[in-house]
Amino acid sequence: MPFALTRAIPNTFANATMQVATAIDVALARTQHTQYVSALSFLDMVTRTLPADDQYPDCCFVEDCAVIANGAALITRPGAVSRRGETPAVRRALASHPLIERIEALDAPATLDGGDCMHIGDRMFVGRSLRTNEAGVARLRKMFHDLTIVEIPLAEVLHLKCVCSPLGEDRVLLARGTIPPEVFRGLDVVLIPNGESYAANCVAHAGKVILAEGYPETRTELEQRGIATIAIPMSEIRKADGSLTCLSLII
Ligand code: GLY
Repeated sequence: MPFALTRAIPNTFANATMQVATAIDVALARTQHTQYVSALSFLDMVTRTLPADDQYPDCCFVEDCAVIANGAALITRPGAVSRRGETPAVRRALASHPLIERIEALDAPATLDGGDCMHIGDRMFVGRSLRTNEAGVARLRKMFHDLTIVEIPLAEVLHLKCVCSPLGEDRVLLARGTIPPEVFRGLDVVLIPNGESYAANCVAHAGKVILAEGYPETRTELEQRGIATIAIPMSEIRKADGSLTCLSLII
């Protein structure tokens, strides 16, 4: 059974580093986070939620703190200075997990955010965003030498997974007009309207998907392919430029 590590919403969440809208309702964000953790059980996952640390307003976005593939975990050095202190608690939690056989960490000047990394099959796609630099990608290549690393230049979005996310081992969900679909050669690319691009970030496992609420065309695209969906509210998480994958690390 897969395991999902999450981290609670801190009291300081309204001070999150990147914000796409103002007036974050922290209490409502907590309710939405609780719904998210419950939805992970729809995907048959075992969950563990780390306590929040109020020194780090973005600490609930655990995805950015590590990249996990094939039993190895690379602890990142987040591109935003305000987020660098988030990683030690995540490292401790992963180090005690029986499925993590190897754990290493990025050193300066490398920067890498987990939200820029997408592992599908034998490839790891990595977005070159403002958060992930050349040295970060080089370190990723070294750590995951058994995977083909595919670099994708990014503009206008915070992370690679703002516009795409895996739908299993051979399929990817992608917002039209963002990354050229040819980048995902050999995969079944499920394109959704650009107007629903927030829904391109989903959490998928075993033929089921957690989606953000309010994106009917995306939901239809998935259900037409026999994929069971559950849609949850994300309004407050989204205001902090967060989405579904940001809230967990899945082993
Ligand atoms: N607020 C999410 C981030 O800055 O990474």
